[in-house]
Amino acid sequence: MNKRPLFLALGGFVHGGDYNPEQWLDRPDILEEDIRMMKKAGINEATIGVFSWSMLEPEEGRYDLSWLEKTADRLYENGIYFILATPSGARPAWLDEKYPEARRVNVNGDRELHGVRHNHCMSSPKFRELVRDIDGRLAQKFAHHPGLIAWHISNEFGGECYCDSCKRRFRQYLSDKFGGDIDKLNHAWWNTFWSHRFNGFEQIDPPMSHGEFSSMGLTLEWKRFTTFITNEFMKEEIRTVRSFNPDIPVTANFMTMYEGLDYRVMAKSLDVISWDSYPRFHNDYESFYDTMIYNAFCHAQMRSMKKDRPFLLMESTPSLVNWHEVNRPKRPGVHMLSSLQAVAAGSDSVQYFQWRKGRGSFEQYHGAVVDHIGTDDTRVFKDVEALGKTLVKLAPVAGTVIRTKAAIIYDWDTKWSLSIVKAFSHDTVRYDDICIKWYKMLAKSGVECDIISSEDDMADYSLVIAPQMYMLGEGTASRLRAFVQNGGVLVATYMCGYVDSDQLCWLGGFPGDGLSELFGLRAEEIDAYYPSQTNSVRFSDGGSCTVTDYAEILRDVSADVLARYGDDFYAGTAAVTEKAFGQGRAIYVAARLEESGMERIIDRALSQAGIERKALPENVAYYRRSGDGVNYGFYLNYSDVPVQLPDACTDIISGEKVTQLAPYGVIVITEE
Ligand code: GLA
Ligand code: ZN
Repeated sequence: MNKRPLFLALGGFVHGGDYNPEQWLDRPDILEEDIRMMKKAGINEATIGVFSWSMLEPEEGRYDLSWLEKTADRLYENGIYFILATPSGARPAWLDEKYPEARRVNVNGDRELHGVRHNHCMSSPKFRELVRDIDGRLAQKFAHHPGLIAWHISNEFGGECYCDSCKRRFRQYLSDKFGGDIDKLNHAWWNTFWSHRFNGFEQIDPPMSHGEFSSMGLTLEWKRFTTFITNEFMKEEIRTVRSFNPDIPVTANFMTMYEGLDYRVMAKSLDVISWDSYPRFHNDYESFYDTMIYNAFCHAQMRSMKKDRPFLLMESTPSLVNWHEVNRPKRPGVHMLSSLQAVAAGSDSVQYFQWRKGRGSFEQYHGAVVDHIGTDDTRVFKDVEALGKTLVKLAPVAGTVIRTKAAIIYDWDTKWSLSIVKAFSHDTVRYDDICIKWYKMLAKSGVECDIISSEDDMADYSLVIAPQMYMLGEGTASRLRAFVQNGGVLVATYMCGYVDSDQLCWLGGFPGDGLSELFGLRAEEIDAYYPSQTNSVRFSDGGSCTVTDYAEILRDVSADVLARYGDDFYAGTAAVTEKAFGQGRAIYVAARLEESGMERIIDRALSQAGIERKALPENVAYYRRSGDGVNYGFYLNYSDVPVQLPDACTDIISGEKVTQLAPYGVIVITEE
């Protein structure tokens, strides 16, 4: 495995973030000071141009790229590279005034007024033309600038538009999808129900607040369409900037498990995955360990979209944000820890929103490297400076990747369907949380896993976990069968394979599409519990654990029974099963078990899959990045108390032999 840092010019990690000098053009002293302080903090990258349209084109057809050019040159002359954003994330007032079609129509059917950001219509031909124009001008000037290392397309794509143009495109999308045959759509959406049959595609409206909300098929296709049209918009921007220099990589900053877009679709058009990470550190509803695990899952999910190369942590805060319910600064040590967690998880960067706090407006109190006080001796600045030095020491790690034999299936289609479906218990489906829980069980065993789609190739893995895999799209069942046949260990849970990709229930018992054969069982009913109700399971090799929220009642079980229900009218029936199939094994977990039960299953599945557990002290996480025959092991302390390490080891960061991890501490070692 050869390693290749994402940006050779930087010779290691990217350390930088969003920089908006256009807010300070009347303060040349501050712009000077920025450069001095960036160098002091070990900053080697600045992300510029995000939301700069009104300063790049103050009036239609009047352009001023000079300040940006000066910025780019000044950065480059000082050894700081730049990632240049296209400005489509926010529109100038003149544009909205003259071309109202650029503004979104909301779910109530009202055209929005000018303001805020991230709210343009994705399909408007006029808006696309204006974006092409400004992107082209930027690319013409900067595509060959020696300081440019990547394009940052727009900003945090998201949201939906219900204008006439988007409606037209939606109908066309549906017609294409169903081959122009409205009866195919009527069947797929089960439209004979409630007399919902359509005579033609032109009768279909998106799911709006005063319209249709009861059609599962419509709601799902609208979500898929939103990804489709956003992706089309993004691809057009990419085409424009690439046409000036195909060698500059493009990225778009994602928001991890954001509900509104299937990032896997968009990832295909990007060279590099990047994302914006803002966990709620130091909250009062979960342990610090769990906050770190949540963030670790996000990193894994983003990384797994392009496994052969590192990703970028495009945004994070060096201190706090301004939009959590309670905005708490990171405690001493946490900036280093959270940044090195990203690095350990496969990022080749630590980047911030933002370099300097603005004086006014919506984000004036959002954390930044430089605060309103303006000095380089603040706690936060010193944290950033220390991290800058650490990243330099870790430079050889850049370009290495994570190789793992374990994966969790996480699908937007299932996530969407589980949010649309009228069934189960409304508050407890919690698809994201449950996927993260399984991730946590692996992490506690010292096993980092990939987060994949059910459409991905599984040949690289020996263990695949499919939590609540409600939708079985085309080919998934046969892929999973082949995976187990060839020796893989598959763990699936309740709510597996209820519907096909149109959300029509599989007939003949769940899990459908032949998967019941693989698991050797059929689920006949699913029991849901109110919060104060529980069941239990007893494992055949001793021990028991509590069941909350869901318990499926199984029948026709030909698999080995590993655990049975303890209570209720189905007491004594199978709750956890395992079946040998081909050279592998298919484990089925019919109930939502407490963590101790999940842990038992993970233990068993890991040993059957031949994946070695790593004994870790409590609250410690482990990662391994590899490349060029070298492995780097990361140990991270997700707690505020020191932890004794099992063996002394030589830490690359401090250069010393260490026997314990400091509170929130991190060590990096070279491994076999
Ligand atoms: C997002 C945006 C940034 C900024 C930060 C604040 O990630 O991309 O422009 O608003 O949030 O946390
Ligand atoms: Zn629109």
